[in-house]
Amino acid sequence: MEFSIKTGSAEKLSSDCLIVGVFEDNALSPSAQILDQASGGTLSKMMARGDMHGKLASTLLLHDVAGCQSHRVLLLGLGQRDQLTDAQLRKALVAAVKAIHATGTQQALNCLAEVEVKDHHQQVRSSTWKVSQIIEAVSDVSYRFEHMKGKAQEQNKLKLHHMDILVDAAHQADAQEGLKQGMALAKGIAFTKDLGNMPPNICTPAYLADQAVALAKQYDLQAEILEKADVEKLGMGSFLGVAQGSIHPPKFIIVKHLKGDAKRKPIVLVGKGITFDTGGISLKPGADMDEMKFDMCGAASVLGTIKAIAEMQLKVNVIGVVPTCENMPDANAIRPGDILTSMSGQTIEVLNTDAEGRLILCDALTYVERFEPEAVIDIATLTGACVIALGHHASGLYSNQDALADEVLEAGEMSLDRAWHMPLWDDYQAQLDSNFADMANIGGRAAGSVTAACFLARYTKAYAWAHLDVAGTASRSGKEKGATGRPVPLLTEFIKRRYAK
Ligand code: BES
Ligand code: MN
Ligand code: ZN
Repeated sequence: MEFSIKTGSAEKLSSDCLIVGVFEDNALSPSAQILDQASGGTLSKMMARGDMHGKLASTLLLHDVAGCQSHRVLLLGLGQRDQLTDAQLRKALVAAVKAIHATGTQQALNCLAEVEVKDHHQQVRSSTWKVSQIIEAVSDVSYRFEHMKGKAQEQNKLKLHHMDILVDAAHQADAQEGLKQGMALAKGIAFTKDLGNMPPNICTPAYLADQAVALAKQYDLQAEILEKADVEKLGMGSFLGVAQGSIHPPKFIIVKHLKGDAKRKPIVLVGKGITFDTGGISLKPGADMDEMKFDMCGAASVLGTIKAIAEMQLKVNVIGVVPTCENMPDANAIRPGDILTSMSGQTIEVLNTDAEGRLILCDALTYVERFEPEAVIDIATLTGACVIALGHHASGLYSNQDALADEVLEAGEMSLDRAWHMPLWDDYQAQLDSNFADMANIGGRAAGSVTAACFLARYTKAYAWAHLDVAGTASRSGKEKGATGRPVPLLTEFIKRRYAK
């Protein structure tokens, strides 16, 4: 999808489809008003007849509107005027693009950046933000994963391939900045989705390592891949324990985006890279097990965020770290009852081989101490319990520093990729007690997402750390099954804001 910024009057610009906002109570957005005048009242008549009520995200497609250079006009409901929130604008945009996909429109002109929207602090959103958000939302609904489909799919190809975004001349510079940021972010998100959607027979640890190396090459970054022997030397017994049941050797990926002040310590992102999670000997039930190919979405979000910041040419120091392997049942696989020695020296009794994410992350979290990080954020599809607690709307956020947690929450709100702060109190730690080792890898049924975070907290005492449990947000099941690209928007926003301070 291509995007560009346009200025001028909506009715005079030609397009296959003009998208304009209308509100409840027959109120029109500025462009809708101009169009209404040019067409001798077509829009207001349509609304008076009751064909369009302006209800949020409702749509009405008109053809050959008099006085308008576009073939089609899509009226998009924006709810009550002056009450539109940023999240509602996004919801409406998604509905508009879905409606357009059902038509022959190849090139659309979007007039929604003119509409005033407020964020969660009741602050008016800038043109930069609106343009960036339009690009992100349109790219999101227009994304298709077709790498693995045959040529017969040709006729299902999306026709829409270009969108112009209309802004006033006064906002042109801001809009151009939004264009640049939105396109960069959309590329990072699409990359994360592609990696997540790739089947697990192709997206192996070696594949992820190759992708990281290619990413580094493309943007002049440094990539380093630690092999099994290197990881053995480092003493990552916990990570190696998970990896030992698979024929695919583990990889430990490090990508360095060091484009900021050489004296400034890096932000480190650590992503869970389980390329397929069968549960191991504690085998998962068969239903929907295919979705466990998404168990490397944390890793994919780390690489996608690095792609986005590299595209934006941000002068920031960020290091991405990805422990990646496959969790398989095998004669050589770890058993319940096995005790592993982590790189930190702490021993772990494996009571359930399906609680493998924390086992690979703990060694990565010990490894990153060497970077003396300014902050560490790990991203992991860690627990089904997090999905039970928060569903598919918010990622679970845990942190050993409230100031850092607040920053992550704010980045989530600003990017419409929200997280919710969960407790990390010591009270929960006792659930990880083991009779035979320093800790068990599971903490019982109660508060499963919290005890998983508590496990990680034992390995992150040396630095400011936040953990995002993205089990419910990184992918969707059902008819729209696929990776979402979350939390790339949150992470990118976090990095931008931290460096803007
Ligand atoms: N990858 C899963 C978590 C998961 C579940 C992600 C559903 C996405 C959707 C993780 O490795 C896992 O299996 N966790 C177990 C932990 C339990 C054994 C303590 C779980 O959540 O059941
Ligand atoms: Mn598991
Ligand atoms: Zn897992």
